[in-house]
Amino acid sequence: MRPLAGIPQASHARRRRQLMRMAGEDAILVLPAAPERVRSRDTHYPYRQDSDFLYLTGFTEPGAVLVLVPGRSHGENLLFCRERDPVREAWDGPRVGPEGAVDALGMDDAYPIDDLDEILPGLLEGRTRVYYHFGRDTDFDLKLIGWLNRVREQMRMGAQPPHEFLELGHLLDEMRLFKAREELVVMRRAAAISMRAHAAAMRAVQPEMYEFELQAALEYTFRRHGAEPAYESIVGAGANACVLHYRDNRARIDAGDLVLIDAGAEYLGYAADITRTFPASGRFSREQRALHDLVCMAQRAALEQARPGLPFENIHEASVRTLAEGLLRLGLLKGSLRKVLAEESYRRFCPHKTGHWLGLDVHDVGEYRVDGQSRLIEPGMVMTIEPGLYVPPDAPGVDAKWRGIGIRIEDDVAITRDGHEVLTEGLPRSADEVEEFMAARP
Ligand code: GLY
Ligand code: MN
Ligand code: MN
Repeated sequence: MRPLAGIPQASHARRRRQLMRMAGEDAILVLPAAPERVRSRDTHYPYRQDSDFLYLTGFTEPGAVLVLVPGRSHGENLLFCRERDPVREAWDGPRVGPEGAVDALGMDDAYPIDDLDEILPGLLEGRTRVYYHFGRDTDFDLKLIGWLNRVREQMRMGAQPPHEFLELGHLLDEMRLFKAREELVVMRRAAAISMRAHAAAMRAVQPEMYEFELQAALEYTFRRHGAEPAYESIVGAGANACVLHYRDNRARIDAGDLVLIDAGAEYLGYAADITRTFPASGRFSREQRALHDLVCMAQRAALEQARPGLPFENIHEASVRTLAEGLLRLGLLKGSLRKVLAEESYRRFCPHKTGHWLGLDVHDVGEYRVDGQSRLIEPGMVMTIEPGLYVPPDAPGVDAKWRGIGIRIEDDVAITRDGHEVLTEGLPRSADEVEEFMAARP
């Protein structure tokens, strides 16, 4: 696959304009880049830019701060970033530097990050409201308080410090929830790479392999296409599939196991999130197939609710109703459907929600409820739909034949004007499709 050019500078500029318009002329918005994190001694975790910062700048360097000052006559879009430094750049790679940032990122002005202390109090002065993510980066919180105090110290000289402090996410999360066309292009690519990776793992599996070998096949495919894992890949064989956030990925796969893989690529910052569950041998047992069919049916019921104008919560309700009916039919639950739903006794086997927003973060930002009610689905939203059933190996009162089976099926869905687009369509999903795909392996 040819690499995509990425989100154009004009989109970042448009997002900043929109955000500033919502914040108002007397506001100032302060967004630090993600801090670098030490992994051990002098080595760091792979650097990942803060999603909000990325959304508004496309800039992937650490050591930067974006300051938006709506209506400021000398420039509204200000970036503080690391200065060029031939010695450091020889070790760590090129930096854009303040001189380069104006053109490269469409800023009105850019300054060395070391000048932040000196310049920021002056930018805060005279603004009424500060939008910032309080509590996300404690070191930066303290710096911001210090700059505010510097303005307060000047009050006797007539300085006007800001007096309203607002959560930046209040504005920004809503913007990020609705994906623009250029974002969907990138998300389709993240989905396509992830599908190839899942297909590679399904193709590679053999009894007696280790879970990490499948993880290697997956992540090799991500990397081959210029992507990386959007989150730690989950590869759970047999009862490990019942551990919802299993990441050990070190067990041996038995011939009779189902393998659950929950993994997604991040491409140009955007995540995909897919789960497939398939038999190591290529053939489902009778019980495995019964539960897999049920999860598939729940996903279909949930997908029907993924349309504009319907409450988001309907998706989950359709899924758990289908799962509960099936669990009663198969004898894993007893009693009436009404009681099982009212008492939520199905949660023994289906403990998680059926989906979440998806975007720059795998569990993306955006409210699920508005004014105490489930919010209505709208075009541009992207979500996962991921019903699951898990019968722990030690589940009391359950016929042994069901024990240790864990199944989740997860796809990514973009809401359109009149329905939805499954971004992850085409990867084998049903038991028949999976068996057929695996039987055709070379
Ligand atoms: N991979 C995490 C999730 O499915 O939500
Ligand atoms: Mn998910
Ligand atoms: Mn997932």
